[in-house]
Amino acid sequence: MRILFIGDIVGEPGRRAVAELLPGIKKANDVEFVIGNGENVAGGSGVTPALADELLESGIDVITSGDHIWKRKEIIDRIDSDRRILRPANYPSGAPGFGSTVIKSESGIEVGVINLIGRVFMQALECPFRAAKEEIEKIKNKARVIVVDMHAEATSEKIALGWYLDGQVSAIIGTHTHVQTADEKVLPNGTAFLSDAGMTGPLDGVIGRKKEQILARFLTQMPMKFEMAEGDIQLQGAVIDIDDKTGRANTIKRIQKKL
Ligand SMILES: [Fe+2]
Ligand SMILES: [Fe+2]
Repeated sequence: MRILFIGDIVGEPGRRAVAELLPGIKKANDVEFVIGNGENVAGGSGVTPALADELLESGIDVITSGDHIWKRKEIIDRIDSDRRILRPANYPSGAPGFGSTVIKSESGIEVGVINLIGRVFMQALECPFRAAKEEIEKIKNKARVIVVDMHAEATSEKIALGWYLDGQVSAIIGTHTHVQTADEKVLPNGTAFLSDAGMTGPLDGVIGRKKEQILARFLTQMPMKFEMAEGDIQLQGAVIDIDDKTGRANTIKRIQKKL
């Protein structure tokens, strides 16, 4: 089976890229299941129930997230009742929502998805490595195919997780930096890996925001309102080909498609 993983979807331009480009990418790559990181869909920060619905209607099967998940508090009730929307598994116990899920693909294959968040140059949450093992234990009897979204800043932490979980999951794809890396590979025991899937949104800015405002902030260190950038809208991510009998990945291919 082929799974498309979409990197951080940023604001209205990102949502438009998904709505308009996803059907063609699915068809061209024979994709039957789509995972998208939706932590930035609400004006660049957070996700609301209505915007989650928009992504699901556009063809995304599971929405993952990251450090911006609690920015729009309307999502809290929804995240507690909808297994198609994940928050990182390694938030402390008591946080609402789920860190993993199992959802059926178009052809009836059970697909497990796990969402983690890194700790290097980020908030100090629970250990993502141990949380990954716990979530795998919870879902491995229900799904042979398992994809992990590792939402993290440091490439070292993502690569280390890749080696740690090689052979236990089908793919580990990084998110959060909004910059696609070119290190895609299938690890020796059959886990596809990519340090960062990139961004789905406007590339004519600084990780989705207007470059003039970000520059002013760097130059003056004054608080600044950051608006969405507008130009060079792309959908970025990766297509992973997985043997659904064994859960091992055959190939991983990066995607960058201009709107
Ligand atoms: Fe993001
Ligand atoms: Fe993030």
